[in-house]
Amino acid sequence: MSRQPLDLTINGESYQLMVEPHWSLLQVLRRELGMTGTKENCLEAECGVCTVLLDGKAVNSCILLAEQARGRSIVTIEGLGDPEHLHPLQRAFIDHGAVQCGYCIPGMILTAKSFLDECRGHVPSEAEVREALSGTLCRCTGYQKIVEAVIAAARQLNSWPEEAGRAS
Ligand code: FES
Ligand code: FES
Repeated sequence: MSRQPLDLTINGESYQLMVEPHWSLLQVLRRELGMTGTKENCLEAECGVCTVLLDGKAVNSCILLAEQARGRSIVTIEGLGDPEHLHPLQRAFIDHGAVQCGYCIPGMILTAKSFLDECRGHVPSEAEVREALSGTLCRCTGYQKIVEAVIAAARQLNSWPEEAGRAS
């Protein structure tokens, strides 16, 4: 099958690519662009480690064709913050000891980001956070510290200036 041109907007930057029509967004991110912060595991929308934001909503990039992201805004974990300007979710995960092996964490944080955006200033309950994160699996942490980190970030975000990160 021959490659076709595809323009993607990732973390606010434009990329011109040549892709096979059947390639997933995950494949393009990791193998064509070297954005390995987005993880790869089940490839069946079961584990959530491949989660990115598409127009602000959390999606499994393993089951999304790259072509389906044309003209839309993609945010990966590389675009959420950087070591000098961590997003409050990233800071909270560190502060609460919510990271062990780390493999699930990019997907977990981006899923939480999409969820907290929907909360619009409401600090969610533990049950609400657990429900929101239920599609993202973690083999290490037992989830409690992750849930606590998300709630702490929700409180922090209520008083957090938009310009403090690249992809608020
Ligand atoms: S790799 Fe996409 S959901 Fe598991
Ligand atoms: S921290 Fe290891 S899978 Fe979640």
